[in-house]
Amino acid sequence: MAKPRIFVTRRIPEDGLARLQEICQVDLWDSELPPGSAKLLEHVVEKEAILSLLTDTIDGQAMDAAGPGLKVISNCAVGVDNIDLDEATRRGIPVGHTPGVLTDTTADFAFALLLAAGRRIVEAERFTRAGQWKTWGLTQLLGQDLSGATLGILGFGRIGRGVARRAQGFEMRVLFYDPSAEEDEFARQVNAQQVDLDTLLGEADFISIHTPLNEITYHLIDRQAFAKMKPTAVLVNTARGPVVDSAALYEALKSGAIRFAALDVTEPEPIPQDDPLLELDNLIITPHIASASVETRGKMVRMAVENLLAGLQGKRLPHCVNPDVY
Ligand code: GLV
Repeated sequence: MAKPRIFVTRRIPEDGLARLQEICQVDLWDSELPPGSAKLLEHVVEKEAILSLLTDTIDGQAMDAAGPGLKVISNCAVGVDNIDLDEATRRGIPVGHTPGVLTDTTADFAFALLLAAGRRIVEAERFTRAGQWKTWGLTQLLGQDLSGATLGILGFGRIGRGVARRAQGFEMRVLFYDPSAEEDEFARQVNAQQVDLDTLLGEADFISIHTPLNEITYHLIDRQAFAKMKPTAVLVNTARGPVVDSAALYEALKSGAIRFAALDVTEPEPIPQDDPLLELDNLIITPHIASASVETRGKMVRMAVENLLAGLQGKRLPHCVNPDVY
């Protein structure tokens, strides 16, 4: 029997590829860069499965291009905003993702950015290399303590909770805003208090974003939201760029409406080199690497491969985002 034909949209680690090649005829986009939509539309034709990354748009057009034989879409990411889930569900196509395995790695990175932003670590490093370190200065590069400060967590899912757990070690007061979560046993254990959005924006010294991107969270942090924050607030985004209105962020950082921001995600990605945000000193930007540890990326690929193979075999995906298809 012919092996099922699949499209893998990027170079993946050898062991994941070998496992797929045992069972499938793999069309691999053998590159560090994504195929882009025109090439993607060409390569998905008559494929039974797609293994995608968060940079690949898998919409109705891509599903049409693949044709009626498309059995599964497996995204090698926990976020699935690059996939039109309604279209996939309408067509009965299960969509897989990689929850859980990246929670701690991403929460660690969010905390690294909270510390780096609060304590001006990147700026201090630039200062040292530029030969500006002349003496120990009493008022030099003063930052903000995390210890004892109020942390506002937007989105209290797996990663938001991971950040709350870490905040306990810093004796932070933790507030969270998430209409779909409750002040449950876990929240009580980590002393996290559920509040409305305005209370969180007004009381937090540090705000960390952990929501998925959808029509409700798109530009959740806009001009009005910045106006409610403390002028000393620090904003960290490791979720999705468009949750923050970047023009409003620029204004807020430039005018001193907030003190500092650290972004691992931007709108768009990658951030264009002429984006005005890159002119600001009170901003740290990293290239969407919150889940980028050797161990975690290996686990994500294995999970994406298992989701894909289950879908090809007509089995329930171990990690399915649209279980309504069953
Ligand atoms: C990374 O951003 C992911 O969604 O896995």
